[in-house]
Amino acid sequence: MSVSQQTSSTSNRITSDLAYQQCMNVDCGATYGVEEVLTSCPKCRDLLDVRYNWDKINVPEKLSDFEGMWTKRYQPLRFSGVWRFHEMLPFAPENKVITVGEGQTLLQQANSVARYVGIRPGQLYLQYEGMNPSGSFKDNGMCAAFTHAHMIGAKRAACASTGNTSASLAMYCAVTQLMKAVIFIGSGKISYGKLSQALEYGALTVQIAGDFDDAMARVKDVSKELGIYLVNSINPFRLEGQKTIMLRVLEALRWESPDWIVVPGGNLGNSSAFGKAFIELKQLGLIEKIPRLAVINAGGADTLDVLFNQRNLKWNGARPRMETACRYYDELDQSHSKADTIASAIEINRPVNLKKCLRALDFCDGVVRQVSDQEILDAKAQVGAGGIGCEPASAASVAGAKILRQQGVIGMDDRVVCILTGHQLKDPTATVAYHTTDQEKFNQVLGARGVSRASFANRAVAVPNDVEAIVKAIQLYS
Ligand code: F0G
Repeated sequence: MSVSQQTSSTSNRITSDLAYQQCMNVDCGATYGVEEVLTSCPKCRDLLDVRYNWDKINVPEKLSDFEGMWTKRYQPLRFSGVWRFHEMLPFAPENKVITVGEGQTLLQQANSVARYVGIRPGQLYLQYEGMNPSGSFKDNGMCAAFTHAHMIGAKRAACASTGNTSASLAMYCAVTQLMKAVIFIGSGKISYGKLSQALEYGALTVQIAGDFDDAMARVKDVSKELGIYLVNSINPFRLEGQKTIMLRVLEALRWESPDWIVVPGGNLGNSSAFGKAFIELKQLGLIEKIPRLAVINAGGADTLDVLFNQRNLKWNGARPRMETACRYYDELDQSHSKADTIASAIEINRPVNLKKCLRALDFCDGVVRQVSDQEILDAKAQVGAGGIGCEPASAASVAGAKILRQQGVIGMDDRVVCILTGHQLKDPTATVAYHTTDQEKFNQVLGARGVSRASFANRAVAVPNDVEAIVKAIQLYS
């Protein structure tokens, strides 16, 4: 690998002739070095991409060449499911790269879920990103953003979070002891599983009176004022790490593209990163077929679905009419409309990566759908019944695949990969409420969100403390 970043002796800053940042606005296109800490273009405020001088990078001739990295698993950088694809995201010199063993995740053929979705068994796969060290896909992106923060010498890093980004940031800070984590969460909007991680890992946890969208706005202001490194997916380096989820999917399919990638949509970092991965792989001649992308909103947080499907906000040859989104946000403000879904991880109305997601949808001939909380929880129960399991937001992908199958958009024989973004144990409240026999608890947690039934509940059986009664119950129910 011809990685040739250098440390400038005068400023101790890393410069690179391999990578740079570029404004995604085609009418601006300003470029900045990787040593700059930016979350938007200083000239026009648009989002930034990390770009590479591919002709100076030793990219493998074919994707299967990456398999050689497995023989070097004893090296932490090659053990990492992100950094063993370093040539696809070479913005950092190897001696600055941070890893805690992220990306050891599984693509699992899931036949019972395939039957539920209506796809021929053998054709549906679940990508279990909940197997990451902090229990969600966030570690893929966090190791990249954290590496960048380390490169530029940051001492504090911040994020707004519905819980998983904060858990991931707090974990990287705690394991490496390189930075202090400052996390912003909305009040009452974070599951205990996720909050407990941030607290235990020692993050400074700021609970603001508001929801995720408010927390996101405030963390941008505050991190600018205090010079704290921001690790939300508005940070372009985050998305570089998340590209590798697609590389691992391709690897597990022996480098054959599936027909569909189905992913939940919240802040739209994943969908944007996946699109960028496929754009680059195609540009480098490493894949022929581009999978189609389906991004699934929760019905209570359906900004992308509304804008893309009802208001025709499209990539439009790199000139999307973003004023359509601004108008929609004004309407949300006027009607005091806040995101509300049991899938708290994607309870977001103002997705920061909207424009990048439009690019991904364009390149991958994508579609957008929304699913109800009822559909999410039923799909989640089916995923769990098939083993390993996921948190509610993740199950939006499976619920979305089912709807797309019913609509005939996804074919019965299509090869479909649903991304399961977070671990089953992240949000046990929703799971237990779904399976409970306690109607009050059900109504309290789920009923208020329009969930009226638990179609696939596996209820606990209450028995007296008596051997004969217990034996009878087991015989009756097994
Ligand atoms: N699934 C899970 C489990 C998540 O935690 C998130 C986002 C998403 C899906 C949405 O992904 O933003 O790439 O579209 N969670 C963020 C957080 C917002 O703060 O943890 P996206």
